[in-house]
Amino acid sequence: MTKAKLIELLNQALELEHQAEAQYLSHATLLSGEAADTLTDRLKEIAGDEHKHAEQFRACLEILDAAPSIKMAPGHPAKGNSQILKVNLKDERDAVDFYRTIMAELQKSRAELPYEYEFIEHKVRHIIMDEEEHALELRTLIGE
Ligand SMILES: [Fe+2]
Ligand SMILES: [Fe+2]
Repeated sequence: MTKAKLIELLNQALELEHQAEAQYLSHATLLSGEAADTLTDRLKEIAGDEHKHAEQFRACLEILDAAPSIKMAPGHPAKGNSQILKVNLKDERDAVDFYRTIMAELQKSRAELPYEYEFIEHKVRHIIMDEEEHALELRTLIGE
């Protein structure tokens, strides 16, 4: 894989994080019922994690001397507690799958990135761990 391809994938990841943060903040205003306050707080916290992930992906792009995207991936509207949790659980799982693809591609360009590989690998691995935690938590909240 080429460095250009890696930059493209990291920018796609950044666009997903822009979308995830905006989507969680939007959905956090739409919850209802007894558990609304707890769920709202939790979704806002996750939005904060997604904000940090965007910063991390920007750092990866910076080390590759690439301009970070300011675009946002298409969001997934939802309403009602159950639908909101399910839509975001799917997005978390899709993010984990996509970021694993980045890790696999990153391996292939290791020789091309003698002084960047570990930095990027560490950041992406850490983000995947967070997304797995988000997915686990949403699954628990859904009661799956
Ligand atoms: Fe994220
Ligand atoms: Fe997440």
